[in-house]
Amino acid sequence: MYALTIIVATLGLAMAAPAEVLNARQAVSVASVDRSAGSVCTGTICNIAGSGDLYPGCNAITDQCTASLRLNYANAGCKVTIWTNSACNSVNQFANVTSLSECYALGHPIKGISVTC
Ligand SMILES: *[C@@H]1O[C@H](CO)[C@@H](O)[C@H](O)[C@H]1NC(C)=O
Repeated sequence: MYALTIIVATLGLAMAAPAEVLNARQAVSVASVDRSAGSVCTGTICNIAGSGDLYPGCNAITDQCTASLRLNYANAGCKVTIWTNSACNSVNQFANVTSLSECYALGHPIKGISVTC
């Protein structure tokens, strides 16, 4: 019962946020990555103004930082997977992002990042 109260209270806070903050995103960020233009988490890093924030479901990548990434955090129970297409279903080429210390790459541009919680 206590845990349920916390969840309800958290949702209430999110609902109370100004509409322009939530805008297209109805959910709150559940994970975050630093994506890089270089293949081993080098070069230009994209995580400006929340562009590294991830939401439940498929997050399509539209900027130039598609070569590699590093996980900043994922909420407990959330699974992060990187894909070579923006629909997050390129099952022949994907990887589970589980470690905070590793740099992840696919050998092809990372076009989608899915988060399942
Ligand atoms: C990712 O994790 C799922 C289980 O959650 C597993 O079935 C799949 O084989 C893993 N994929 C890779 C590329 O490790």
